[in-house]
Amino acid sequence: MLVLLKFVNSRWHTRHVGLVPTMGYLHEGHLSLCRRARSECAHVAASIFVNPTQFGPNEDLARYPRDLPRDLRLLEQAGVDLVLTPDPGEMYPPNFQTYVTVEQVTQSLEGAARPGHFRGVATVVAKLFNIFQPDRAYFGQKDAQQVVVIKQMARDLDWALDVIVCPTVREPDGLAMSSRNIYLTPEQRRAATVLYRALNVAKAIWESGQREGEPLRQAMRETLATESLARPEYVSAADPISLDELGIARRGVLLSMAVRIGATRLIDNLFWNDVLLQERLVVR
Ligand code: PAF
Repeated sequence: MLVLLKFVNSRWHTRHVGLVPTMGYLHEGHLSLCRRARSECAHVAASIFVNPTQFGPNEDLARYPRDLPRDLRLLEQAGVDLVLTPDPGEMYPPNFQTYVTVEQVTQSLEGAARPGHFRGVATVVAKLFNIFQPDRAYFGQKDAQQVVVIKQMARDLDWALDVIVCPTVREPDGLAMSSRNIYLTPEQRRAATVLYRALNVAKAIWESGQREGEPLRQAMRETLATESLARPEYVSAADPISLDELGIARRGVLLSMAVRIGATRLIDNLFWNDVLLQERLVVR
């Protein structure tokens, strides 16, 4: 389904188009992307699609939260002009058989923990780029590896678009906003603040001049261990372009983690050096 929220003038193809891809159940993080797009682009499109190909067989595809009427209202208020809300069968018709694989930066972190995840992400984002032909596409820093993968794909497949990375929006106690936070019980919600605390402990160590990866990872592990409900899946201090675990930092650091709180899997990150914020991938 294609929902036209505002009259789109006939110059759609001649002025800047901004695209905000989402899986819906929108929160302030998504809306900050829409507002940024609105402030920079003549036309703003969004997509709401819970993309089945990026979920593993034991993941939460069936119960992923959905609320289309609310999402459409919020997107309209944020100034979005057009929303694509396709059915899975429209994006992946019978006999669909072409996928996009980004080879290297998908191997570690989320890619290692969720086999096939980035193949699904890259494929659906490639399709959305082809459908909308955006000049600028907006993604949140919270999915830092996703941003690295999409920039790599855009460069490798010659999309002349800017990938704009917007800061993670946090609750007042530091928890990164995520559609999955809805799964947390009140006790788990309280425990979930440990992710941001652990990142900040490592941040302080980085800011004191430490450039070796292991002390940063160790500090995050130790902080996570203070919360009995937290079960870390991985803790990483990686190079922000290759995503290889750091020996010694050459061009900044991406601190990241995936932690289970009860059945809910949460991710978060902080980074230094703006390579992640550059609009196109530049490898030095
Ligand atoms: O970040 C997300 O919500 C999804 O991975 C995306 C980019 C919309 C692709 O399905």
